[in-house]
Parts: sequence; C-alpha cells; structure tokens
Amino acid sequence: MMKELRIVSLFRQYDSPEELPAEDKNLLMMAREAAKSAYAPYSQFYVGAAVLLENGVIVKGNNQENAAYPSGLCAERVAIFSAGANYPGVAVKAVAINAFSNEFKITDPVGPCGGCRQSMIEYENRYGKDIRVLLMNDDGNVIVTDTLKSYLPLVFSAESLKRKISV
Ligand code: THU
Repeated sequence: MMKELRIVSLFRQYDSPEELPAEDKNLLMMAREAAKSAYAPYSQFYVGAAVLLENGVIVKGNNQENAAYPSGLCAERVAIFSAGANYPGVAVKAVAINAFSNEFKITDPVGPCGGCRQSMIEYENRYGKDIRVLLMNDDGNVIVTDTLKSYLPLVFSAESLKRKISV
C-alpha cells in the first residue's frame, strides 16, 4: 500500500552574520575571502568555501576552472578534498560557502551543487559527526543547517554499499 514519506530539513535564516557566534561569522568571512582568489575566467562566478576542522584549522578553497570546462572543480570540493588530503583523521565541524559575480547581485545564498553535497557528506559519515553548513548572499543574509543530511534525503552512502568505512 502506498505511504507518503515526509522528510523534513531544518534551516535557520539570519538577517546578518552579526547574529551568529564568532566562529561561524569568521568562517563566512573566510569563505568570502577565498572567493576573491577563485580562478573563474570562464563563468566569472567566484565561489569560496571555508572548512572548519575540529582542531580549529580552517581550510579554504575556491572554484578552479579549466578551458576544458568539465575539468574544473567547485570551491567546496577543492576545500573539503584539501582538508581530507592535508588533515586526514581530523573531523570537519562546519563549512561556509559564499559566492560573488561582477555581473549580477547574489540575492539568494548560493547552495552547494549536487556533486559537492555528495562529496561533503562523505566526511560527515567518515567521522560520524554532523557538519554545519553556512551560506550567505550579497546582503549578508545567512542560511544555516546543522547537518549535510538536510541537503540530501535518501542519500547514497557506504551503508548503501554495505561497507564499513574507517576514519
Ligand atoms: N561552483 C562552485 O564552485 N560551487 C558550487 O556549489 C556551484 C558552482 C562553480 C563551478 C563553476 O566554476 C562556477 O561556479 C559556475 O558554475
């Protein structure tokens, strides 16, 4: 018999990063700073991501484009893979994402693309700890969620493969 499955994701909205704890506000500023160094000559859409690790280290990333378009990589994956490569075994606490364009105003906070959601949730599963995600538009409006699961209902994971992953 058909049953309706309702999956709820909770997001909190703030008018300004000033309303957030210093740690989150700082992470958003780091993401904004990272966006300024993006290499995005093709899209001219500059994205920055800042990953806060449990040991307090912040790893930044930004989009890196390529003349062969699919060979580039999003800011979030550059940041999270850099964290995984340089700080293996250190859990991820939070990720902030910020984007700007010289051509238009970012009115809605830019959320991570599907591939980046999947890539980032791997680290939530790897360390068994939820990752807080912070987004901010050009006016400083912020959207926060306490876990990447909010972005990926019915996620494909190690569990789907009946695999046990170790840190
Ligand atoms: N981009 C990101 O860096 N993160 C996202 O979540 C969405 C898209 C980049 C990829 C490409 O360099 C540019 O933004 C336009 O799609």
